Amino acid sequence: MLIEESYRKIFEENSKWVKKKKTEDPDFFNHLANGQNPDYLYIGCSDSRVHANEIMGLQPGEVFVHRNIANMVVNSDLNILSVINYAVEYLHVKYIIVCGHYDCGGIKAAMEPKDLGILNPWLRNVRDVYRLHEKELDAIEDTKERYNRLVELNVYEQCLNVIKTAEVQKSFLANGYPRVAGWVYGLNDGILRDLKINFKEELNHIRKIYDLTKGE
Ligand code: CO
Repeated sequence: MLIEESYRKIFEENSKWVKKKKTEDPDFFNHLANGQNPDYLYIGCSDSRVHANEIMGLQPGEVFVHRNIANMVVNSDLNILSVINYAVEYLHVKYIIVCGHYDCGGIKAAMEPKDLGILNPWLRNVRDVYRLHEKELDAIEDTKERYNRLVELNVYEQCLNVIKTAEVQKSFLANGYPRVAGWVYGLNDGILRDLKINFKEELNHIRKIYDLTKGE
């Protein structure tokens, strides 16, 4: 299909989708226009093959989504920090999920000995994760397996980065939420795997050094 045709088709598909939704529930859009009340914040990779709502089986309005290359939670990224702030303080989400995926191009690119221009500083954060877990990763001989383990460890470290924020620490201590979870999605089998990060244990550990619960 020509790209012009494919582009036009998006609007045709949209009209069909609107009709279908209205048939299923005449109040569908009125309901959504009244506001959002999602229980989940999903932080995932921009990869076109990993679609948050679809893999979680959730409808519009049920998950607040942030995506970037390699699902990073970077300390100086105003974008992700604003998303976390809004999700915690205004939407009162119950879970913050960091979802990586096996065969992630961002993770692979980060491990290439190559100058990637503006991507260098972004992917540097992935290299830092490698350095933190160097022993474990170096012991894995198969390159693909090593990258996939790096995907899991990257998710784990990004979960810790979420837990390092004042919003998450303060809200959890006051309200018992949000909890932080780490998942990895398999592109080749469609399966979501929960890394079963022990949130309370990690929070206590993080607070030893990164405690931001005092003040205000
Ligand atoms: Co990816």
